[in-house]
Amino acid sequence: MIDGPFLAIETSCDETAAAVIEKRVVRSSIVASQADLHTPYGGVVPEIAARHHLGTVNLVVAQALAQAGFELSDMRAIAVTQRPGLIGALLVGVSTAKALAYAVGCPLVCVDHLLGHICASWLEPIALDPPFVSLIASGGHTRLDLVRDLAHPETLGQTIDDAAGEALDKGARLLGLGYPGGPALERLSRGGDPTAHAFPVALGGRRTRDFSFAGVKTSLLYVVRREGDLSDGRRADLASSYQEAIVAPLAARLLDAAREHRVPAIALGGGVAANGRLRELVSEGAAQAGLRVAMPEIALCTDNAAMIGAAAQFTEPVAWPDFLAMDAMPTAPPGGIAA
Ligand code: KG4
Ligand code: ZN
Repeated sequence: MIDGPFLAIETSCDETAAAVIEKRVVRSSIVASQADLHTPYGGVVPEIAARHHLGTVNLVVAQALAQAGFELSDMRAIAVTQRPGLIGALLVGVSTAKALAYAVGCPLVCVDHLLGHICASWLEPIALDPPFVSLIASGGHTRLDLVRDLAHPETLGQTIDDAAGEALDKGARLLGLGYPGGPALERLSRGGDPTAHAFPVALGGRRTRDFSFAGVKTSLLYVVRREGDLSDGRRADLASSYQEAIVAPLAARLLDAAREHRVPAIALGGGVAANGRLRELVSEGAAQAGLRVAMPEIALCTDNAAMIGAAAQFTEPVAWPDFLAMDAMPTAPPGGIAA
């Protein structure tokens, strides 16, 4: 555990974020979202993301320090997302963190973004300790992990094609909604019937903890093509049924895994954990099974730097001058998570 307050930086995708963490407590967490910049393109444009991080990162760091009431020189370490993510975006964070660690004379902690999502529930006030099963569902990742040790989560399953958030975003686009589509799809689905259309649930009959969402997405494409102009009511029904086909398997596999591994708790993370229907299904199932559910507030589920600070507490710091050799990496390591 890092002894004293430290700074964490996250720039792996389209959020520029910085936080000050002390033990398990979030002293400040600032997130500058670029979502509006990418909306006209219907997705994150890597070049634009990297450039915007460059212009924003120092301001966000200054704000995080000011809000926590610390000077940069008070920081005992600088933690940063090293992987996986958009390489240009990651490089801005890693270079900034190296420069700050050099200036302060403190170690650098290179954090895996996915370990960050898993560790978000470890922070106060939720303060979840292992063992638990974690579901991370975001625009880039969908995975289930058995967490007996926060430094080494064990992969139980992951998506074999699209991430859940990606499938929601693409489905939303097919229904004429803007980017990011997940929240818009959820709003539209509120007026719809989740049983109106039977979308295929992939891998449903098999004993697997993996996920697949490409088939559901293609199925929606065919329905939209076949039916042409959709009435508002039909769009809402399709949105609701489509959302159900994606979030119901997420909830079911999370609950099944918790049962199989006899853990007392489950945790949600990633942007899709903001979904009300997923939260409802998970809460209902957990109440029946007597499981504790850790659902961090939405700001801790979507990309942020506080979770990177949490994961830093379970990652080996690198001292000067060795940290100069640390580099950003776009991909996840073979085991899925670096810790
Ligand atoms: O974790 P995140 O902020 O970024 C990464 O992808 O790492 O997740 C973003 C994803 C997007 O696909 C977005 O559509 C989805 O989370 N999302 C939602 C909701 N809010 C965000 N999906 C469903 N319902 C929501 N309310
Ligand atoms: Zn993320």
